[in-house]
Amino acid sequence: MSGRGTETDLVTGAFSYSGSRIAELLIESGREVRTLTHHPDREHPLRARVQASPYRFDDPLALIRSLEGITTLYNTYWVRFERGRTTFAAAVANSRALFEAARRAGVARIVHVSIANPSIDSPLPYYRGKALAEDALAAAHIAYSIVRPTWIFGGGRDILANNIAWILRHMPIFVVPGDGQYLVQPVHVDDLANICLRAANGGSGEVVDAAGPDAMPFGALVRAIRDAVGKNTPIMRVSPAAMTALAQALGFLLRDVVLTADEIRGLTAGLLVSHRPALGHISFIEWLDESGPTLGRGYLNELDRHFRMRRTSAHA
Ligand SMILES: NC(=O)c1ccc[n+]([C@@H]2O[C@H](COP(=O)([O-])OP(=O)(O)OC[C@H]3O[C@@H](n4cnc5c(N)ncnc54)[C@H](OP(=O)(O)O)[C@@H]3O)[C@@H](O)[C@H]2O)c1
Repeated sequence: MSGRGTETDLVTGAFSYSGSRIAELLIESGREVRTLTHHPDREHPLRARVQASPYRFDDPLALIRSLEGITTLYNTYWVRFERGRTTFAAAVANSRALFEAARRAGVARIVHVSIANPSIDSPLPYYRGKALAEDALAAAHIAYSIVRPTWIFGGGRDILANNIAWILRHMPIFVVPGDGQYLVQPVHVDDLANICLRAANGGSGEVVDAAGPDAMPFGALVRAIRDAVGKNTPIMRVSPAAMTALAQALGFLLRDVVLTADEIRGLTAGLLVSHRPALGHISFIEWLDESGPTLGRGYLNELDRHFRMRRTSAHA
């Protein structure tokens, strides 16, 4: 697949959300791109240009073979919540297996997409798991960079902003957990992808946050989305416990996991914000002005995307 003199990178999840934008930017810059995915046959505009192989976390030699000839591995692999055999412990072990395979395959650099504010001491398994994956990368004896996004929006496949808009369009009320004053600082998927490409050329061990220019209280963000979609749905404050119950009830109706109790805890604890100067340039509020008319017209279902469609690997 590689032409002479053309370097090849591998982006995990190139037919999914952020990996798709990273892959597009790499192709635009003249690089060959391969991907690992659970859905190599998924319909996607990049399918004709990106060679896809299944994740083989269960087979170290196959995993190494899939990474041979790669200059930079851009890793977006992670799971949003635990379900069945999909656990955070498995995601950490799979991440470790991926890093080890990359080292053995001779990959020059890993750009690893983590999350803002990971912590080994976090009571939230997602954030703790992310910290453990970062530690595994630092111990993997390979050059690396870590990019920590806050909350990714834009590009037509962002579940959070889209589904907030969907609820505002279709439900009689919208509920916000707690006082809604905790900050969020979304980063556009294009900014994240550019930050990842820059990280590939930074010093090894560099850790950067990917956050946008607008930090605002969550309640204000929901009101901005409501204005953008042209609705006047009442927004009510409820306790995090009530919010969890309502999210579960809505999830039951939609056959999805709308928001988990842990995600509500992370949100209300102000973890979706960066404490460093913003590297992203695209304003959430300006993006909303353009995207409002189409945002949330359809619901994006996480279970359909990652759990119900045909899977090629037995291991999440
Ligand atoms: N989205 C956000 O707002 C956000 C915020 C902060 C940090 N992050 C981090 O940014 C990275 C990329 O996020 P993203 O939203 O762009 O992810 P994504 O595209 O939905 O998924 C990235 C990769 O992980 C795989 N994956 C996702 N869920 C899975 C599951 N339940 N079981 C097995 N594999 C699964 C996908 O498999 P397929 O290729 O088969 O789809 C894909 O290869 C992740 O590390 C995430 O933790 C995301």
